[in-house]
Amino acid sequence: MQVKVEKTTQLNGAVTIPADKSISHRAVMLGALCDSRLKITNFSKGEDCRNTLEIFKQLGSEVEFINESDFYLIPSKLKAPKTPLYVGNSGTTIRLISGILASQDFTCTISGDESLSKRPMGRIIKPLTLMGAKISSLNNDDKAPLIIEGSTLQGIDYDSPIASAQIKSCLLFAGLHAQGTTRITEPYKSRSHSELMLKYLGANIKENSNTVEIQKSQLQAGNITIAGDISSAAFFLVAGAIVEGADITVKNVGLNPTRTGIIDVLKQMGASIEIFNQRTLSGEDTGDVRVCYSGLKAVTIEGEIIPRLIDELPVIAILASQAEGTTIVKDAQDLRNKESDRIKTVCHEFRKLGVDIEETQDGFRINGKTKLKGDTIVECYHDHRLAMSAYVAGLICEKPVLINNFEWVNTSFPEFLELIYKIKES
Ligand code: S3P
Repeated sequence: MQVKVEKTTQLNGAVTIPADKSISHRAVMLGALCDSRLKITNFSKGEDCRNTLEIFKQLGSEVEFINESDFYLIPSKLKAPKTPLYVGNSGTTIRLISGILASQDFTCTISGDESLSKRPMGRIIKPLTLMGAKISSLNNDDKAPLIIEGSTLQGIDYDSPIASAQIKSCLLFAGLHAQGTTRITEPYKSRSHSELMLKYLGANIKENSNTVEIQKSQLQAGNITIAGDISSAAFFLVAGAIVEGADITVKNVGLNPTRTGIIDVLKQMGASIEIFNQRTLSGEDTGDVRVCYSGLKAVTIEGEIIPRLIDELPVIAILASQAEGTTIVKDAQDLRNKESDRIKTVCHEFRKLGVDIEETQDGFRINGKTKLKGDTIVECYHDHRLAMSAYVAGLICEKPVLINNFEWVNTSFPEFLELIYKIKES
């Protein structure tokens, strides 16, 4: 599907952000390991999370839908799937379920789509193997498809070379069924949804700065309500900051401090942003955020903040194009391993729009403030966040922008266009 975006002078009103993708995955994965049935409310409609739910049905869990987003999950002992498990585009699904499947009493294969099959899996194969897992890649290239033969696991003390919630969560989930203690230390703290949910469901887990440790535990059922996704909210927050005259309120935004890097960057750039109505949903902070158009100044984004905004860097490139001065993003080399090589695709596609952006080995440099000309066709390389970032840019381009294969937004945020139209019209 090709989508056309035109410059807008209207961006007013309120939108409610749908469920967080990371928390939705974890709700099903950990819910399926609980001792009895639980209710999951506000589950993501994105394809990635639907793939996770399908997989757990194949593994024996039962699902009783109340409506599209709310259901009861009835766990049962995991059983061998009849066919290979298919994760689609979802790196989170394959990496996290590998931790769970490594300790079961059956063998299974996990595969994904073309983009997923190019992404590195060595980062989980290596530590899981140290725990005693029998996990290999079908083509011996540390990529999917993966074959996992369940075995007995032993806890390890692992110093992760990358701040990655997927590596950390994979090992924590493996540690739930391993002998002894499983301890993971990261260079910087990555998103903490697994730790919070494991605690919420009664696991024996402890945290100390960038280290987390878990002991073998039986999870106890607890109902889970999923907060809104700050990574989806980011497109609206950036649009609110760069579209002249905009004044929007983004409701039900997950505000877990390990995810709020985008809010810190907006504040540092001088954006007009206000948080209110803060509350907690199943152990996760949420709130409403109002953002209005204002002048912005460039910042340097590096170090500990990177994992706190890793998925927002494509849309931050658009934000930075409207900030006075040179914004520098560094220490973000893992962006090359996302749904696309986001350093390359962001620079290549956004330059076509008129963004003054230069690729570096671990990030990019953007000179602002630039009038974006648009008048081009953007490709999205199977990458939902690239497509939505280009759309936000299109809202301030002089001439229309066409975005090819826009259906990739369904990976995480099928409601995106409907919500954009709502604030363009209200
Ligand atoms: C995720 C962790 C991040 C993020 C991804 C979701 C998660 O990946 O980019 O979209 O839910 O754990 P890494 O852990 O590889 O940085």
